Amino acid sequence: MKILNADVLIIGTGVAGLYCALNLDKNLDVVMLSKKSLEECNTYLAQGGIAVRVNEYDYDAFFMDTMKAGMYLNNKESVKVLVNESRESILDLDRLGVPFNKNMGEFEYTKEGAHVKNRIVHCNDKSGKLVFETLYEHVKNLENIRIVENTTMFDIEKRDGKCLGVYCLSEKETIYIGSKATVLASGGIGGIFKNSTNQSCLTGDAMALAKNHGIKLDTPGYIQYHPTALYLEKREDKRRFLISESLRGEGALLFNSRGERFVKELLPRNTVTSAILEELEKTNSDCVYLDITHTGEEYLKRRFPKIYSECLKHGINIATDRIPVTPSQHYHMGGIGVDLHSRTSMDYLYAVGECSCTGVHGGNRLASNSLLEGLVFSKRAAEDINAVIGENNKIFEPLLRYSVKEGKKLVTDNRNKAIEIIGNMRKDLKNELVDSR
Ligand code: SIN
Repeated sequence: MKILNADVLIIGTGVAGLYCALNLDKNLDVVMLSKKSLEECNTYLAQGGIAVRVNEYDYDAFFMDTMKAGMYLNNKESVKVLVNESRESILDLDRLGVPFNKNMGEFEYTKEGAHVKNRIVHCNDKSGKLVFETLYEHVKNLENIRIVENTTMFDIEKRDGKCLGVYCLSEKETIYIGSKATVLASGGIGGIFKNSTNQSCLTGDAMALAKNHGIKLDTPGYIQYHPTALYLEKREDKRRFLISESLRGEGALLFNSRGERFVKELLPRNTVTSAILEELEKTNSDCVYLDITHTGEEYLKRRFPKIYSECLKHGINIATDRIPVTPSQHYHMGGIGVDLHSRTSMDYLYAVGECSCTGVHGGNRLASNSLLEGLVFSKRAAEDINAVIGENNKIFEPLLRYSVKEGKKLVTDNRNKAIEIIGNMRKDLKNELVDSR
């Protein structure tokens, strides 16, 4: 087994992992792990944008929109943090070079469901991809950060309730990575569903591991279905292409197979999804239709280039044709329980982004609050780690020596065993979250 040591280990290279890495002190030695290639994260697929408090007067409205969409099941303290720190995060991304759409130097805000006003900054319909590329450009230039791709974690090393690192499996070998602080930023669970807008490799590994180790989970059953994924009779993979809610924000309307409207398009996601499912049942159909043909082709090519070209590949011109859509698993609101500094119930183990549950989304996430949560709470994790490692550096050394010398390496230093552990972990999660629905 190969052994690596780091001050900080970050598992996942989406927005939360990358932004956490950028906010860590530059004297810390950081290892980042990606299960597949770097861009196989949900951040890369995000279309709509990032919600932000547009000015000081928008605090109450943004807070209430988040609570109302979340069915008031949200953690109010987390929502306060999210709203308060949202603007600082977006200004930071702007400084880092994310090419947000702007008018005369001011952000161009778009609208999505359940927002009382336009407050979503975006890069046309490639917001996630451009945020990812910008953050990665900065991370890759930092000498204190090493990135290891195509490597899956399958166990946590712990002693006296403290996390000391993880065991993982690359294409060639098992690797033990010892770390003073470990950050789980490994995304959602869509890969265990037949229909999901997520990357297929995202199978809830961090949550499964957390569960095996008795780490506190929070509302694991809170799962969001996006109302409008592209419906295709024949598909090449499990992932369904997302038709962003921002189309409805820009006036697109929903019709059933008889050409009738049946729901207000900008209600919260769970309400629109339920209305569509009811309509599919009533009309005995596989999909409903989204119509944005009231806008011009040139506008659509400019504003939604990704959606325009992806639909065209399947013979649908969104400027003239209605788009067949169907609900699809999209986001996991529940996950590994964390406090306001992204600390889990295990010492020195943090969770950020979709695998965590800050409670910010309650029972139903408000559109475009996911990248924002990843930014705000991963920065908080980084600040906490900077302070904790700074204060306690000496106590870590003996712990790390222990973890590379003893422990269960002998058991796990076996590729087949590792593969079995990973397989069982996914099976358990699937039984619990999918089959019991
Ligand atoms: C979308 O563009 O509809 C998705 C954005 C989100 O999930 O918040």
